[in-house]
Amino acid sequence: MKDDTLFPLYNKSEGADAPHPPPKVSQDGKSSGVTSMHARRVYIETYGCQMNVSDSELMAGILTQSGHQTVPHLDDADVVLVNTCAIRENAETKVINRLKHLNHRKRRHPELIIGVCGCMAQHLRDRLLDAAPYVDLVMGPDAYRNLPVALDSLARDVESHVSLTDRDPFVGLRLDKNEDYADIAPIRKEGIRAWLTIQRGCDKMCTFCIVPFVRGRERSLPLKLLVEDVEKLVDQGFKEVVLLGQTVNSYHDDTADFGDLLYAVGEVNGLERVRFTSPHPADATDSMIDAMANSPVVCNHLHLPLQSGSTEVLERMRRTYTAEAYRTLVSKLRERVPDLSLTTDIIVGFCGETDEEFMETYQMMADIRYDSAFMFKYSEREGTLAHKALPDDIPEKVKGERLEQIIELQENISADINNAAIGDIVAVLVEGESRRDADRYHGKTDGFKTTVFPKADSHIGEIVSVRVHSTTAHTLIGEIA
Ligand code: SAH
Ligand code: F3S
Repeated sequence: MKDDTLFPLYNKSEGADAPHPPPKVSQDGKSSGVTSMHARRVYIETYGCQMNVSDSELMAGILTQSGHQTVPHLDDADVVLVNTCAIRENAETKVINRLKHLNHRKRRHPELIIGVCGCMAQHLRDRLLDAAPYVDLVMGPDAYRNLPVALDSLARDVESHVSLTDRDPFVGLRLDKNEDYADIAPIRKEGIRAWLTIQRGCDKMCTFCIVPFVRGRERSLPLKLLVEDVEKLVDQGFKEVVLLGQTVNSYHDDTADFGDLLYAVGEVNGLERVRFTSPHPADATDSMIDAMANSPVVCNHLHLPLQSGSTEVLERMRRTYTAEAYRTLVSKLRERVPDLSLTTDIIVGFCGETDEEFMETYQMMADIRYDSAFMFKYSEREGTLAHKALPDDIPEKVKGERLEQIIELQENISADINNAAIGDIVAVLVEGESRRDADRYHGKTDGFKTTVFPKADSHIGEIVSVRVHSTTAHTLIGEIA
């Protein structure tokens, strides 16, 4: 089960501080290309989904471009930016606790600038400053261009010893449907897999979901630019690209749809694999399925959020598909894409969910047999359509019991599917040394299963054939065939 895991993200620092020309700030306050006089060392800490990881890379790009430096350890930083998630209440609680901890640090080091960025900043707005008045910066996902201006102004206060209570916080919360950061080069950690945002925002308005309110309207980046980005990633040594969007398959630019993009990216020389997350079932067009079936580079892996197996619940969630339509889609996908690995997201205990409706979800999971699933209890989010119109009436205890039931079901199914792979030869893209055993490598199969095997004479970045001889709960174990 996924939760809102911490992904501390860091980049190589960019050399020593050098004297910089004075800042140039354009009339609209946009700041790309601005060079800071108050260069800071920034530690970025990321919570939540891959989109946030990708946004942190973007923030690192914006900061570095303007003369700041990102550092790998909080101890080396004079600014900490916490990139946050608002999807469930526990995601926000986790960040509030972290902020309290950072405040202790700030008491010892009053020059420390604390910034809260991302979805929770956008969601809580002023309430965040009420709860954590020691926060210096509150910035939503469409305002990151203002980071250099914000840091300059805050750094000026710090340098002139303005007392902590007199420092004015910098607040940037305007959502901008035209902001796609197309001109910004993100700074990524070196590796095998790169995440590439192809679309921002979401137009779907599922009633339970805060995302459309904190990330704004859907917008896609131009295909030509994305293909160039992928070419650059391959030049930098990445072998796999994961295309990111909230409803990634509703991607479109003037002439191309998501299937066109998959084909185009699949043709980039030297790219071994492309994946994407997360598609919306209602946008799973033939064009997408064709590309999955025909482009050898597009992985046979689909994360297809179901949410509920009950058409009535899906209606209350405004998911725009029925349980039947979802089943039909899965049959079609499995026919067209052999060996498809299928994963999903499920919410239990949504407003008014009866025992029968819950059992429809349970049954659907038993029938479809997902390779794995992220499973959640419904968490009411202020500002969503459900919060306004539907009572959160399923007792916490019932939500917990339902969650336990489907987790147990899914664990058994995942174990069965993994055990059935014993004896198979799987193609694994080697990612790095196993954390537990320096003599082993780990990597992922086409279907996104973690696989561990003795190194033999294999190398990071190549695709090797591994014969599976055993499994643990979520890992395949084998040796080079
Ligand atoms: N389309 C997005 C969805 C982001 S949220 C994507 O890229 O996957 C990820 C998952 O969190 C959703 O699919 C849903 O299962 C779950 N989720 C969203 N809002 C929730 C809420 N209010 N309570 C519990 N789970 C929620
Ligand atoms: Fe949220 Fe539904 Fe969009 S889950 S991100 S509103 S597709």
